[in-house]
Amino acid sequence: MARLAVFASGSGSNFQKLAEYFEDSEHSIALLIYDRKKAYAKERAESLGIKSSYVSYFNRDKEQSELEILEVLKEAKIDICVLAGFMRIISSQFLLNFWGKVINIHPSLLPKYPGVQGIKDSWESGDSEGGITIHLVDEGIDTGPILFQTKIPVQRDRGFEEFEQRIHQLEHTYYPRIVERFVKEEFTESIID
Ligand code: GRF
Repeated sequence: MARLAVFASGSGSNFQKLAEYFEDSEHSIALLIYDRKKAYAKERAESLGIKSSYVSYFNRDKEQSELEILEVLKEAKIDICVLAGFMRIISSQFLLNFWGKVINIHPSLLPKYPGVQGIKDSWESGDSEGGITIHLVDEGIDTGPILFQTKIPVQRDRGFEEFEQRIHQLEHTYYPRIVERFVKEEFTESIID
């Protein structure tokens, strides 16, 4: 029985989908870590009855913030960290404590368009396809080994908003399932759909 913590900075729609998906599982989303007081993810955690912990990154070293997170994770007996819109780079020091146990979702076909505006960059690129990537986290920005990718055509005649919505739908559909497979240690190679 694995205990998972989700890390989010903002809306938390992926957090919610994960929490709902794992409701009937032997594994559990046991904790939300958030770093912005106004993160809507926190409200979602309250409605879902999931414990949440705020960790500040303001006016202190990242190392201090991460040490605090590690303590909270230890106390909650967390096995796996699931990043879902967490707008911080995780240090190698932190990763040593959870080696191979931190995963992330990114709204582009990595290695294309890492960083904070993956959807916009895909849209503006002129590429005919966009998509999502779920990957293990390493010290880089969206660079770790890829577990899963799936794509959709970029239909520019339908506008950016629709593209963005379709990307989020992909995330909501696939992230819970892929996290479940990861928890069950079913990954022997990347799945590129
Ligand atoms: C998602 O698009 C995710 O891929 C990116 O940040 C966004 C988070 O959205 N890393 P939400 O907070 O889960 O709604």
